[in-house]
Amino acid sequence: MICLGIESTAHTFGIGIMDGEEVLANVTDMYTPSEGGIHPREAAEHHTEVCDEVLEEALDEADLDREDIDLVAFSRGPGLPPCLRTGAVFARSLALSLDVPIVGVNHCIAHIEIGKLKSGAEDPVTLYVSGGNTQVIALSAGKYRVFGEVLDTPVGNALDKFGREAGLEHPGGPKVERNAEQGSKYIELPYTVKGMDMSFSGLMTEAMRKLEDEKLEDVCYSLQETMFAMLTEAVERAMAHAGKDEVLLTGGVAANKRLQGMLETMCEERGASFYTVPHSLAGDNGAMMAWLGVLKYRSSGEDELEDTDFIQNWRTDDVEVTWDK
Ligand code: ATP
Ligand code: FE2
Repeated sequence: MICLGIESTAHTFGIGIMDGEEVLANVTDMYTPSEGGIHPREAAEHHTEVCDEVLEEALDEADLDREDIDLVAFSRGPGLPPCLRTGAVFARSLALSLDVPIVGVNHCIAHIEIGKLKSGAEDPVTLYVSGGNTQVIALSAGKYRVFGEVLDTPVGNALDKFGREAGLEHPGGPKVERNAEQGSKYIELPYTVKGMDMSFSGLMTEAMRKLEDEKLEDVCYSLQETMFAMLTEAVERAMAHAGKDEVLLTGGVAANKRLQGMLETMCEERGASFYTVPHSLAGDNGAMMAWLGVLKYRSSGEDELEDTDFIQNWRTDDVEVTWDK
């Protein structure tokens, strides 16, 4: 079955094509704001402008024609309403014109399922860390439960905001990582884990303040050490609580080698296995939508067209996991 998946929840417009478990194409085009944070309406306009071009590029990459597509999947939520609307309209018109079934899928669960497929993890605690999300998730009684999450600013967003304050080019995450590699002095910063939930706003603000009289490299190093220790603690607690012995790291921030290293060490110490996902499939992309589309369609069939409106705050644990039986 050839499934075309569409991602449009935030900055990225992506189209991926899967032939069963095989990625045939995965094309993304990202909106970058001229300054400051994301403007939802501008991002949606970007998606409208590039969607036809991205579709052609994906078909080229897969060496397929439109008529070869058997199923259309799209990210139904959670996300920014104007962006979600653009993706849903594009998906519906494509499915109608090709006369193929359509399925709407949950963005966060798509990250987990493509991660499991590509890494071989079977039943992990997933740490999903990106610009807009920080969640610790595991499957329990037929649903992906959120064991822990961020209470304020998500990790990637906190790194990007700190980066902007430090004069680093957007996105800040990779630049903070590079600077941290040159740092060695640990500067005490606020460490806030409440149960399995985390708060990064105070830490970010304090790190910005430290820039006044500490070296950039040392502040980046201390920021990463503190943030990633918090994430690792929350994941370790979720593993004990849920009784799991695998960790899957995904989302844009999963590219960070220090975060990978800390989780890996924690897993080794517990006799657990650590998995991560290549960046092209860890950040927002269309292939993960296509793969979850395949899983959902195989287990519970297509969606009625009337049921394809976007769901802005679609929670991970609202979704019945019908494909994992
Ligand atoms: P979502 O919609 O899932 O929240 P997103 O729009 O934030 O995703 P992603 O590509 O998943 O997009 O993630 C982008 C984030 O990843 C940015 O905040 C960026 O700074 C961060 N990032 C990328 N590479 C690294 C890295 N090496 N270290 C730390 N953060 C990184
Ligand atoms: Fe995402």
